[in-house]
Formats: sequence, C-alpha cells, structure tokens
Amino acid sequence: MQYYEEIVKKRHSCRSFAKKKVGEDLLYKLLMYYDDRTRNLTEHIKTFIKFYDGSVWEKLNEHVGYNGHCIKAPAYMVVYSEEKGRYLENAGFLAEGLTLKMTELGLAACWQTVNNAEAVKEALGKETDMVVACVVAFGYKDPKSKEKPVKKISLDELTYGTKYGQDIDPHLFYRELEDALRAVAHSQSFLNLQPYRVIVDTDQIVLVGIHDETTKEVDRHLNYGIAMFNFICVAQATRDVTPKWSFAPVTDRDLGLPADVKYVAKCKL
Ligand SMILES: Cc1cc2nc3c(=O)[nH]c(=O)nc-3n(C[C@H](O)[C@H](O)[C@H](O)COP(=O)(O)O)c2cc1C
Repeated sequence: MQYYEEIVKKRHSCRSFAKKKVGEDLLYKLLMYYDDRTRNLTEHIKTFIKFYDGSVWEKLNEHVGYNGHCIKAPAYMVVYSEEKGRYLENAGFLAEGLTLKMTELGLAACWQTVNNAEAVKEALGKETDMVVACVVAFGYKDPKSKEKPVKKISLDELTYGTKYGQDIDPHLFYRELEDALRAVAHSQSFLNLQPYRVIVDTDQIVLVGIHDETTKEVDRHLNYGIAMFNFICVAQATRDVTPKWSFAPVTDRDLGLPADVKYVAKCKL
C-alpha cells in the first residue's frame, strides 16, 4: 500500500535537526490539513494547534522531553485541547495525522513527552483556556545525522486472533488488513515500548493496553491515539467506508483479557 510504504514506514523520530527554518508555506499546509481533517477520533472535543519557532526551546526545556531535555528544533507544534474524556487519544490521533503530513512534506519530527503541562502553557504565554495535550518538535533532518531506525514490534507479536493470547490465522484475517496492522506495529510510542496489542476478528479489531509501569498515564493515552490513527490512515485506502474507532465496551464476545490487560477501543471493519 502506497501510504504505508511511502509515508508511515518512512517516518522515524528525528533528534538532530538542521538549522533551516520551516517555511510559512509548509506551516500553512499543515494548518490546512488540520482544518480540513474529517477523520476526528471523537467529536465534540475542541482543540487548537499552534506552531512556534525554535526560539521557544528555552521555555520548553525541562518541562518537556525525556529526562527534562527538550530536543532542539527549528519549530514546535503544540496541541491544546479541552480536557474531556479521551482528549489525549484524540490529541494523539490528530497530532499523528499532522506528523505524517510532515513526513509527506519532507519534514522530520520527534514527539516530546510533556512533563508539566501547566508549566508549558504558562511558559508559552497562556494562549488559551485549553490544556497542553502534546508537543512535537519538527523541522528538517540534519543531513549529517547518523540516527538509525529503531526496532519495532513484529506483526506476530502485535496481533492475536479472536481472543487475547490466541494465535492468529493470517490467511483468515490479514489480506487487505495487513498493511494497516503493520502501520500500528510501526507507530511511535513513549520510549518505543509499544505497550499495546491488537485482537483481530473477522468483523472488528480491538486495541488493548498491556501492563507497563514505565509509560506515564498521559503518554499511554497519546500512544493509543497514534496507533489508532496509523490503522485508520492505511485501512481507509482499502475500504469503501473509512472504519471508525469506538470506545464503547465489547459486550457481544469474550476477549479473554487477563486482569492486567486493559480494553481501549474497537474498530468495526
Ligand atoms: C507520547 C510520546 C512521547 C515521546 N517523548 C519523547 C521525548 O520526550 N524525547 C524523545 O527523544 N522522543 C520521544 N518520543 C519518541 C519515541 O522515543 C519514538 O517514537 C520511539 O523511540 C520510536 O521511534 P520512531 O519514532 O523512530 O519510530 C515520544 C513518543 C511518544 C509517542
């Protein structure tokens, strides 16, 4: 599938940016993408995105990034959101769409974990009543960068068939779903831990979160939104109707979830 091969698979986090500024034309394209998007994860959650130039690095440093160190970049994207149920999944979903749009536009990006959302908002001048949901550093990759792609969970490891822990019959389930599931397996996540799995059935897939003490609550929910976007953006290319995620519980079958595995969402196929 073109979108998977050419965009999703090509996206890698960048921690070494060139000094080159991101032009207004590209920022405009990103904003247009954000304004136009019709594939919201959840309706009725207001969001607001803003791009900042690299001069805000000092303001962001300590409040975002692994070990309180914000990656230096020529631009930052901050997603602000109303603080409603599933707002982090929603922010992760829409910011992932924008991250992949950046890839399409020849830009590179790196998500920055938010260590103190209130402090980030304060440092950036309290733009809105909404909360800071996520921060993404972006710009052009330094051509001299020696960063290598990191290893991702395999499709086998990611997926179960019908019930948690059950082997999947690839001939029965995969076919046109394969690239969309590979896109989930290629998703970025906090520390690349990928603490989730997908249960594949003939009529739906279910995303579940697995036990992981390292990933903070906020990043766990952002991870889910990212994985959900990656699935949809590839799956929609092979289907007449774009599949939609639902957070409603699964009541018509037993997913066989162990106590430490949490149901996240289902997506009818
Ligand atoms: C919610 C979230 C928070 C992240 N925070 C940071 C961060 O603070 N610093 C950083 O260098 N990378 C951060 N990352 C990037 C991950 O480390 C990266 O996605 C992962 O290692 C997989 O690599 P890839 O993006 O190249 O596929 C974050 C990713 C996510 C999804």
